[in-house]
Amino acid sequence: MTAALAPIPDDDSQTPPYWTGEFWTARQRQAHALHEVSYRACFKPQLPAYFIERHTAPGDTVYDPFMGRGTTPLQSALMGRAAVGADINPLSAHLVRPRLSPPPLAAIAERLAAIDLTASAPIREDLLVFYHPATLAQICALRAYLLAREASGARDAVDDWIRMVALGRLTGHSPGFFSVYSMPPNQAVSLQSQARINARRGQTPPYRDVADLILRKSRALLKDGVPPPVAAAFHVASATHTPQIADASVDLVVTSPPFLDVVQYAADNWLRCWFIGVDAATVDIAMHRRIEDWTAFVARVYAELARVVRPGGHVAFEVGEVRGGKVRLETQVLAAMHSLPFEPLGVLVNEQTFTKTAMCWGVSNNAKGTNTNRIVLARRR
Ligand SMILES: C[S@@+](CC[C@H](N)C(=O)[O-])C[C@H]1O[C@@H](n2cnc3c(N)ncnc32)[C@H](O)[C@@H]1O
Repeated sequence: MTAALAPIPDDDSQTPPYWTGEFWTARQRQAHALHEVSYRACFKPQLPAYFIERHTAPGDTVYDPFMGRGTTPLQSALMGRAAVGADINPLSAHLVRPRLSPPPLAAIAERLAAIDLTASAPIREDLLVFYHPATLAQICALRAYLLAREASGARDAVDDWIRMVALGRLTGHSPGFFSVYSMPPNQAVSLQSQARINARRGQTPPYRDVADLILRKSRALLKDGVPPPVAAAFHVASATHTPQIADASVDLVVTSPPFLDVVQYAADNWLRCWFIGVDAATVDIAMHRRIEDWTAFVARVYAELARVVRPGGHVAFEVGEVRGGKVRLETQVLAAMHSLPFEPLGVLVNEQTFTKTAMCWGVSNNAKGTNTNRIVLARRR
């Protein structure tokens, strides 16, 4: 840890202390390769690692009610903790589950060779704006194969892995992706926007070999090995209502909710949702323009966390800087838990040095971007 725990003076004596510094950096601890799946507004694995290390022991249970790509559950598993996660978007579990118990590379290669990607399948012609016709035929054949395996109950861990990798390869900005040059992989643009990108760059989608790209990415993901076997459970559920999770069964929560209406999760994930057979528009993502509505939603989340977290357990709740720093979401989080059995311990403000990649993708200290992580840490009474 590089930071000194220096409380920031605050006018309101009721608020818990702020600690600021660089608590974790990408350099400090290299993230495990299995984390390398792109997702909108994901946090770095160093964030959950920091709290898992301090507030749990091996065998304890760590939960993320807004798990996204699954940074918290995967990091928990890598550190020998039981992993529980939920997300309202069914896409999440498809991205998370396969990486907790990956199949061997040889089994992946064998399956990729066995799937007939020349099989005829319904072709979505409008996707030709992203793909070469032969690549699109392979993508549609793979999608049809996976949906048929799912429907027949034959789907197994190797299929799950292949689907997870394919989801991360659908669109991107380099020849490592199935598509012609597009936005970063966590943000599928609309058909109209892609047509504009193509016109501006004078590009037509080149041929890509779907099976070859999946195998290459699998090799990269598996290069650091696999997590130890741990208990794991993932749910498609709203963070406000998780009857699947037993009372007082969780030792630590590390999570990050949608920040007001800043990120368009449904729009950004439309193509990934199509691939798994889900209409993204039907997923009830929490989007709140008004701060009081967001705070009421967070209060409902904390009420559910009060049920699932054991007395003495902890909740680390990350929020970003939004609306140019004018809105301090951490104060809303503190208000949201006010009448619930949680004792606020402090707010950690992790100051990040921006990487070149983040800058080139337009993340900066502006109205839309977030350049500090603010984590409200509380203990269940
Ligand atoms: C900031 S992202 C979480 C990213 C995650 N920390 C990671 O590293 O990938 C917020 C997530 O909340 C999910 N979400 C939105 N509304 C939800 C709700 N009501 N209940 C559970 N998840 C929800 C979104 O689908 C999205 O995956």
